This record gives sequence, structure tokens and C-alpha cells, in this order.
Amino acid sequence: MNKMPELASKLLAWYHQNKRILPWRDSGNPYAVWVSEIMLQQTRVDTVIAYFERWMEKFPTIEKLADADEQDVLNLWEGLGYYSRARNLHKAAKIIAKEYRGELPESAQELIKLPGIGRYTAAAISSMAFGHDAAALDGNIRRVYARIFNIDAVVGTKEAETIFWDLVEDHLPEGEAGDYNQALMDLGATICTPRSPKCEECPVQEFCKSYMLGIQEMRPVRKKKKKVHHHIHAAAVIVEDGKVLLAQRPQKGLLGGMWEFLNGRVSGDPAGGLADAIWEGYQVKIHAGNNLLTKVDHAYTHFKITEYAYVCTMLESSNKENLHWVAIENLDDYPMGKVDREIAKRLQPLSMKN
Ligand code: ADE
Repeated sequence: MNKMPELASKLLAWYHQNKRILPWRDSGNPYAVWVSEIMLQQTRVDTVIAYFERWMEKFPTIEKLADADEQDVLNLWEGLGYYSRARNLHKAAKIIAKEYRGELPESAQELIKLPGIGRYTAAAISSMAFGHDAAALDGNIRRVYARIFNIDAVVGTKEAETIFWDLVEDHLPEGEAGDYNQALMDLGATICTPRSPKCEECPVQEFCKSYMLGIQEMRPVRKKKKKVHHHIHAAAVIVEDGKVLLAQRPQKGLLGGMWEFLNGRVSGDPAGGLADAIWEGYQVKIHAGNNLLTKVDHAYTHFKITEYAYVCTMLESSNKENLHWVAIENLDDYPMGKVDREIAKRLQPLSMKN
């Protein structure tokens, strides 16, 4: 017996009663759906809403985004992390403005050609914004399917990916893909949660093989976590006449194109290793001293850092292209990662005193 059409109709009925009210949802604006999907790739819905609203106010159309300055784009993204998402959105907007007359393409096959759009995002946009029959698979949907069908393949392996994509494609109800994909996402976010799922409230409990076996919390099966490295950094907050020296990071790689206080990895006493680290990293000579401004902890995806920031003085001035003297009260205009923004916030009261 094939119960699956019933699974889809139960999920859809639940969704229509319980769906979350989200600003991009049912907006009828493909650009809004696209922006939200990119923001949601690595960030939770609760965090995304305020960023989304600010973004749509500043860049209300694809053309406006295409014409924007990259620093303004990064500034608006600041705090969301994974900044290549913002750069790719910007790049894709320029392509759409030029090659697609400002209109997002509708099919997943076309969408996937754009920077920052992978198989999941292409299907999500095509189904939600244009009503195409495209099956989407993200983290929430993987978990829901792994539990319903008791999939024990290790998430992230080729074997598991094939199983999950086949499942989502096989169970997609025709003509309902947009709502069905979102029903799975909402179920995963609110009921079929990673820990302590609320199985008693689940609209599709009767179909759930893992629930029947009492092993729902053991699905999906994840790879063992690698040990996370923890680096110690020291940063030089070089202040002169109400200005502070910032360096722009290379365009490629972590926090590409964003601004930072000069810093480097140290071993042992951070103040003691600071001057050498700054000379090695930037060929700038400083007097480090021991005037600790703040200490910041931050976890990136694959490592953690603790950064000690010291107020320092410059010994030899430098005119390098990637270094800028910035008035302390203008630091907000320079896009930065979380660690550097924490340091910048600590500096602001110093500028008020001057
Ligand atoms: N996660 C990613 N896209 C989403 C959407 N449209 N609704 C809910 N959660 C999501």
C-alpha cells in the first residue's frame, strides 16, 4: 500500500493551519524569495527577519542591488557571517540585470547557473516563487525524511545524498511543491526539531518509522565531529589623533574584502608576541606595550579564536594600499567580522572622551 499521497496531504493541511508568518512568504516577489533563501542558508529565521527587512528597504529591486557599491552590500550583511553569500548575491544581481533583463529566471536549471545558487536554493526559489514542481532538500528536510523513512546512511555521504534526493523527488505532490517544501521546513523547525522533537504534536506521526521504533533522536545519523582547533590571536589597535589603523583583508577567503585591526596568531604571551606578529603579517613596526583593550572569543565554522586587543602606537608610518587610517567615529562605515566589530565597539567610548 502506498500511503504517500496521504503523507503529503496531511503535511499540506497542517501547513495551511500552522505556517509561520514570514515577510518573504506569499510575497509574490521572486527577488524577496531569493534574498531570503540566501540569508537563510546558514542563519536562523529569527535572525534573518530584521536583516531581510533592512536589505529590502535599501535594495528594493535587483537593479538597485546590481548598481550598489560592494562595501554597502557588505555593510548591510555585517553580522550574518559567511560574507561570500553577500558577494555572490551582488554578482548574480549584476548578471540578472545584464543578461536576464532584471528578471530572475524561473527554472531550477537556469537558477543554478547563478553564483551562490546550488541545487537546494534553485529548487526552493523555483517552487516557492514560480510554482514549479521542484523538490528541495535542506537540513530540516533531511532530518524529517531521515526520521519518517528511518534512513541510517550517514548524512553528507554520497550514498545518503542520493537516498535523500530520491525521496524528496518521489514524494513531491504535483502542483504543490512550494507549499510542500515549506511545510517540510516548518515541520523541521518547529516540531521535528534536532533534539526533543514534539512527536505528540506531529501531523505525520502515523507515517514515521523512527517514531514507531522509538529511535527518532538517533536520526539522522551524523558523522563524528572533528576536533575544533582553538587559535590565540593578538590585535594591535593603533591609535593616533583620534584615528585608528585598519587593514583590508584580501578579496578571496575568510571575511574577504572586509576590514580588520592588524592582528596575528601568537603562541604564549599575546602581548609579548604582538609586535613580531604585526611585522610579519603587515610589515608595520609598532610599540606593543601591555594596554589590553578587550578580549574577544569567537567560533568560526572550523575553528575558534580568542583575540586579545591591545592599544598600541606606531613606530614607523606606512602608506600601504590595504591600510587605512579611520576616524574612530567612522568605524561603522567599514564592514567587519564579529571579532573586529567587538573591538571597534570598545573603542567608541574612547573617541567620545576626546
Ligand atoms: N528555510 C529556508 N527557506 C525557508 C522558508 N521559505 N521557510 C522556512 N524556513 C526556511
